[in-house]
Amino acid sequence: MELSNVNKPDLRVKLGDVELANPVMLASGTCGYGDELEDYIDLNRLGGISVKGTTLEERQGNPMPRIIETYGGMINAIGFQNVGIERFVSEKYPYLKNIGARTFVNITANSVEEFGLLAARVDALPEIAGVEVNISCPNIKKGGINMGTDPFAAAEVVAAVRKATSKHVMVKLTPNVTDIKPIAKACEDSGADSISLINTLVGMAVDVKTRKPKIANVIGGLSGPAIKPVAVRLTWEVAKTVKIPVVGMGGISCLEDALEFLIVGASAVQVGTANFFNPKVTMEIIDGLEKYMLDNGVAKISDLVGTLRLD
Ligand SMILES: Cc1cc2nc3c(=O)[nH]c(=O)nc-3n(C[C@H](O)[C@H](O)[C@H](O)COP(=O)(O)O)c2cc1C
Repeated sequence: MELSNVNKPDLRVKLGDVELANPVMLASGTCGYGDELEDYIDLNRLGGISVKGTTLEERQGNPMPRIIETYGGMINAIGFQNVGIERFVSEKYPYLKNIGARTFVNITANSVEEFGLLAARVDALPEIAGVEVNISCPNIKKGGINMGTDPFAAAEVVAAVRKATSKHVMVKLTPNVTDIKPIAKACEDSGADSISLINTLVGMAVDVKTRKPKIANVIGGLSGPAIKPVAVRLTWEVAKTVKIPVVGMGGISCLEDALEFLIVGASAVQVGTANFFNPKVTMEIIDGLEKYMLDNGVAKISDLVGTLRLD
């Protein structure tokens, strides 16, 4: 890393053809469509927003309780409650298209065909930067196999999305696999422009008085500071495996956390659960990055990416 006298640090990052004003994004499912945080932060200052997982049809999600707090995090089993792609286009897109931050539509589906249809719909929205393809879901037509845990299934989804859109295709990986590297490579080889990771870790919690699961769905996704070391390790592994940019997330709740992900190779980061206990966290991280760069003579944020020292 070149150290120099820096007057105005350059926070811009490039994810393929998409330029973000800075590397800080809101993670899917933790900010609605950005609107849920508009009273706390200036959405125009964000690098990007990934909206709530959007399906073809509107979904009501799983029965309650579907969120619980755990040590250093939370478990959720929302079950993709969302307005569906048509209402997204008519009700949410008009709001999002006036925000400076680049918007990615997180898409979720239960078949390869549905993923293609969703991507084609997003392709027609000029102010959307791209899709974030959440492949951590079962393929109902193929006996419920999880599309994100098998390189061939993941490749099929990415190829279908690639065919349906010329916009940026970011593919979001699940950490619930033995080896994430072949899955990341399969996504890259099938046309992904970037990889984001990690989605939640499968978790479970029990009420010892009633001996019932604390979540109605029994199992759910663990997120928040508790998962950060796992997320940093997986981000490092994937960044070494693929040539396309990597967007890291999982437990980021302060500047130091974001820096860790950048140093192990993430070009940008997403912040999720921390928005619930500190809705201003993304602004603090952006300000913190600028100060860190000034203090440490880092002229461009990209100079920091992948500078992990193993000597
Ligand atoms: C309440 C909640 C809802 C989420 N919904 C989605 C979703 O719709 N699509 C998706 O890809 N990830 C979803 N996620 C996962 C987050 O985007 C993120 O990958 C994960 O929580 C790890 O980051 P964090 O520890 O900063 O929250 C959700 C997470 C939470 C906590």
